[in-house]
Amino acid sequence: MYLDNSATTKINKEVLDEMLPYLKDEFGNPSTLYSIGRESKKALDNARQQIANSINAKSDEIIFTSGGTESDNLAIKGIAFKLQNRGKHIITSEIEHPAVKQSLYFLETLDFKVTYLPVYENGIIKIEDLKNAITPETILITIMHGNNEIGTLQPIEEIGKIAHENNIVFHTDAVQTFGKVEIDVEKQNIDLLSLSSHKINGPKGVGAIYIKKGLRLVPIIHGGGQERGIRSGTENVAGIVGFGKAAELACSNLSEHEEKLSKIRDEIIEKVLDKIPESYLNGDETHRLPNVINFRFKAIEGESLILMLDAKGYQASTGSACSSKTLEASPVLTALGLDPVDVHGSLRISLAPDSDNFDIDDFVNVISESVETLREMSPLWNQDTDYDEIMKRK
Ligand SMILES: Cc1ncc(COP(=O)(O)O)c(C=O)c1O
Repeated sequence: MYLDNSATTKINKEVLDEMLPYLKDEFGNPSTLYSIGRESKKALDNARQQIANSINAKSDEIIFTSGGTESDNLAIKGIAFKLQNRGKHIITSEIEHPAVKQSLYFLETLDFKVTYLPVYENGIIKIEDLKNAITPETILITIMHGNNEIGTLQPIEEIGKIAHENNIVFHTDAVQTFGKVEIDVEKQNIDLLSLSSHKINGPKGVGAIYIKKGLRLVPIIHGGGQERGIRSGTENVAGIVGFGKAAELACSNLSEHEEKLSKIRDEIIEKVLDKIPESYLNGDETHRLPNVINFRFKAIEGESLILMLDAKGYQASTGSACSSKTLEASPVLTALGLDPVDVHGSLRISLAPDSDNFDIDDFVNVISESVETLREMSPLWNQDTDYDEIMKRK
């Protein structure tokens, strides 16, 4: 049972079927004038419209990229370079994806100043902190829609409103929320939005950025002028066709999927917290994605738990795929104010619309048995220790 859909998803069969002709006979370059090229251009236009429809944008506000990472880089560096004469201050949160954080660290080497807003115990920024952080030099607010590790949702509509009242550009990374909860760029006051295909049962290596009409940014990839000069390079036609189809499928059944996934999510949360002593839910209880759960188990190591679950047929993760190669405590969980030792005992479960064909009770039992086995071996686990008391003293 694959339960790591925040890392990536399995390609949908309908999506693959739509892509195949563009990997075989319909191989034309969309920038050429003859018929086979025009066919590819038509396919791009169609996918652009599908993406635009799913976020209430216009098709000429969508630029295709190689994925969420590139879209984040383009949004942040593109605006920073465009508006640097107006000011060099950017506001973000402490729990952004590395694609955002690393782009900002790079800009700091070029004398940009960045404010990292705290997210507190529930993983959500405070609007008051945002208002206090704004200066006359602030040109950009970049705060993610939904977090990839803990699934918490930020109040983006309000953030966008405050940005606009202060004449500041608002970018949000919606890689984890697209196709999971509603996105409406008009209603939510969004100027720039990053999307990725492989989180919604589409192919890897494709994404998009929404750029509000009239907003200008400096490109970061220069070349033949494709995608209206904002992102040069021959488009990945088959990938983009797949992304368009995946977006259409995910967004046309949004509320049905949301309801189904939230029910499974809540059942798992309830049963795990009930059955396993010293287990906790990381992040806000209600303001969260319907498909992401992040638990913390006292006195165990997340990596060992992942391997035990895998041996019993369940694939989940300790956090984001990007940080699973390092032994550092997750910066997202540490930003919640948790002890780094406790952070190591975390487990992320992320569902997809097809995650409804498994036995939740068996899954919960497997987690429970694995946690028990690991605790028996753990020098940190002592039944007589009052961990709540220790936490209170910290
Ligand atoms: C919140 C978030 N932003 C950006 C990315 C990067 O997207 P991609 O893998 O398409 O580059 C990810 C991927 O995990 C993500 O979760």
